[in-house]
Amino acid sequence: MQYTEEINMRKVQLTETVLRDANQSLIATRLPFDKFEPILETINKAGFYSAEVWGGATFDVCLRYLQEDPWERLRKIRAKMPDTKLQMLLRGQNILGYKHYPDDVVRKFVAHSIKNGIDIIRIFDALNDVRNLEVAIDETVKNGGHASGTICYTTSPVHTHETFVGMVKDLKSMGAASICIKDMAGIMGPQEAYNLVAAIKDAEPEMPVVIHTHSTTGLAFMTYLKCVEAGADVLDCAISPMSGGTSQPATETMAYALRDMGYQVDLDDKVLVQMADFFKGVRADFLKDGVLDPISMATDTQCLNYQIPGGMLSNLISQLKQMNAIDRLDEALAETPKVRADLGYPPLVTPTSQMVGSQAVQNVLVGERYKVVGKEIKAYCRGEYGRTPAPIDPDIQKKIVGNAPLVEGRFADTLEPGFEAAKAELGDIATCDEDVLSYIAFPQVAMAFFEDRKAGFPKKAEAPKAGKKTESAAPAAGSTFNYVVNVNGKQYAVSGVVGDAAQTAAPAPAAAPAPAAAPAAAPAAGETAVNSPMPGSVMKVLCSVGQTVKEGDLLMVLEAMKMEIEVFAPCAGTVKSIVAAAGSAVATGDVLATIG
Ligand code: CO
Repeated sequence: MQYTEEINMRKVQLTETVLRDANQSLIATRLPFDKFEPILETINKAGFYSAEVWGGATFDVCLRYLQEDPWERLRKIRAKMPDTKLQMLLRGQNILGYKHYPDDVVRKFVAHSIKNGIDIIRIFDALNDVRNLEVAIDETVKNGGHASGTICYTTSPVHTHETFVGMVKDLKSMGAASICIKDMAGIMGPQEAYNLVAAIKDAEPEMPVVIHTHSTTGLAFMTYLKCVEAGADVLDCAISPMSGGTSQPATETMAYALRDMGYQVDLDDKVLVQMADFFKGVRADFLKDGVLDPISMATDTQCLNYQIPGGMLSNLISQLKQMNAIDRLDEALAETPKVRADLGYPPLVTPTSQMVGSQAVQNVLVGERYKVVGKEIKAYCRGEYGRTPAPIDPDIQKKIVGNAPLVEGRFADTLEPGFEAAKAELGDIATCDEDVLSYIAFPQVAMAFFEDRKAGFPKKAEAPKAGKKTESAAPAAGSTFNYVVNVNGKQYAVSGVVGDAAQTAAPAPAAAPAPAAAPAAAPAAGETAVNSPMPGSVMKVLCSVGQTVKEGDLLMVLEAMKMEIEVFAPCAGTVKSIVAAAGSAVATGDVLATIG
């Protein structure tokens, strides 16, 4: 084995993503703690560089669907995994949400993440604007954590090796202990990856380089090998049953290939076998439920053209299925890069991936580009997310923001401190500072969670598996259905016959009252209907019956695809009826209110 001697058994380490990114990319983060608890002590013995277990969508999904306090989940994982570094993903100044938070909130969130058990915080900004990483990195270092400064890898006319290496230098000076190249879409080719890692190692030889990619396009294993040849130190992988497709390359396969090439990989193969056996069962259950869609596990080379990240692709599929519009997937995929170019080539990663994706879906389903624009896209176009890699198309920016002033400098500098105010607002409802942080990150969702927690969650034996069936395909006409849906964090049992008018929506055992049935009534003669532009749920009703409104007045806010969609009056008049109450689920075209 001459080759082995040549590379001198250089050590390569792996991060196991099964509990965060694999979970998020394949099964929409629906894996409850109880389900993976039995394997934690085993994972702890495997010898991973780190286990990615928290952050990203885990936080939101715990509160929204799983009846779990995310902080408690973290503490429970920590207790079972004392010997493995626990890692989380943090969106810099956005923490885990979709907007910018003031610095005091970012600092509190980072400090409490470390206090509750996190060792490594991988910190990224959706626009690669390093000004949005500085505070989170600083606070991580102050609390004794490892800040992994992250580059969101993307290709565009404005993303070059020089800009990426410049970013590495900035992150190092801020205190980053490692650099992660985060290829959300699995679009980084082997040679391109080699060149980029080599450029970084040339500039900063001592800086550990971590590579994160997804198997979506099938490039990942090849890309990882070339990254290692260029000097990469750590690779993100997922245990085999939860690997591939929109998830990461398989842990065991990667370890085998690296050893075959002469690298040192300190993983316990027996432990990996136990982990794989366990997660085969998990995979089977989620396949049976329909939450795990076989499409997500396949190789899809479309991403090489469309640059759709793993999580975004599975979300697009499940969202379009819920809307009964899966046949529009190709159109939505084709629209996505156009929207991205219009918006100045943001990398596609949360939250910009959701923003670009939902805008692409809206442009397709509404039939006119940028006719319906979410609040987040408006804020983005005003500069509230940071510096865009290239300028936003000026005509589209004008159509979206009108003459509103644009943000100069760092948006967080314009924000008032937020933690103490939120704490005061919550009063007794918050039992600890962690509750306050949950509330700041996801106000409605956390409040519903606190209420359910106070009332006592449905008993496990009676409670349906949270999140189950919400993302499965619509049943065929004529067949019976009986499943549980989640509406704003509450569960409802739904049963009936497809195509039968007598469909029922009854609360699940011990759950809250059923929401209003999806409204579809036609307006009375002489009245104008305000129709829902998108399938989603009503977040806020901002008008009342009898109120006089002008054309263009804000009437309601819907939540669709995790975005807030504002609904405006189509004409002037008096609000005659409000058909859709807050909390009700609505489909495209449903009457929300009528104006006479
Ligand atoms: Co990822």
